[in-house]
Amino acid sequence: MASTSSIQTALKAVNANIQSQISKKTGGAQNVRLVAVTKTKPVEDIITAYECGQRHFGENYIIELEEKTRHPKIIDICREIKWHFIGHLQTNKAKNLVAIPNLYMCETVHSEKLAKKLQKELEKAGKTEKLKVLVQVNTSGEENKNGVSTSKVSDLVNLILTKCPELEFTGLMTIGSFDHSLADGVNPDFIKLLKCRDDVCRRCNLQVEDVELSMGMSHDYEHAIELGSTNVRVGSTIFGARNPPKQSQNQEVLKEKDEESQPQEANDSQHITKATDQEDVLENETARLQELAI
Ligand SMILES: Cc1ncc(COP(=O)(O)O)c(C=O)c1O
Repeated sequence: MASTSSIQTALKAVNANIQSQISKKTGGAQNVRLVAVTKTKPVEDIITAYECGQRHFGENYIIELEEKTRHPKIIDICREIKWHFIGHLQTNKAKNLVAIPNLYMCETVHSEKLAKKLQKELEKAGKTEKLKVLVQVNTSGEENKNGVSTSKVSDLVNLILTKCPELEFTGLMTIGSFDHSLADGVNPDFIKLLKCRDDVCRRCNLQVEDVELSMGMSHDYEHAIELGSTNVRVGSTIFGARNPPKQSQNQEVLKEKDEESQPQEANDSQHITKATDQEDVLENETARLQELAI
């Protein structure tokens, strides 16, 4: 657990950096949302950040998100919390996600199958509000990254707009390659996401201002804002280095693999070894090794 003062100081600094980037870029006209990523972090850290005024929080694992959203202290203290799901969502977990209280956005819709399943679960749940979704794009084309390929983004957006009335298409999200160093200049993944947005707007008849971009993490959120990001996901800079994954998270990966290996899930099973970031690659690998040992 990070100390209260370190979270307060870091959060203040990140917000100040965001504001300074916004004023440099647009003279203050642009809105950028900070999503505080609390994956593997304790409930106490979430409460500290919440009490500093932070409202948007991001989680990668459905089981961890369920545990945190149902924690009595979160329910009692963080009444206006807005959760973002930012991890890889298996279709058989769509129902769990839809049931999350105060769910604000799913940032990682990566396939038509997942969009349709979310639509179905939202219909069943009879929710009055639409669920905001971002389409996750695999801008780097790396095998171990999730997301739809850049050439298929418009088709997926079109499906959401025309066939998924319970989903509110809100924009595009990317993680990008970890190999890119800011010293090498502009991040090509961010440029690709901007280009994808132009394509989507042209093909789906949308205005650029109505399509958000979620890009930028601890090491590059300022750069991402410079290029037009409207949603940055920052974890370790606020809460410190992440703790090793809990056993339950590895079990979650294993369980998902079992369920996803059913024939009807065959298309999605290729995503099991894909990961949301480098740590997830390691976590998935640990899970795979555990599985081999069983
Ligand atoms: C999708 C996604 N975005 C953002 C983050 C936050 O990364 P960082 O701690 O580098 O800010 C993570 C971390 O796991 C992530 O998986």
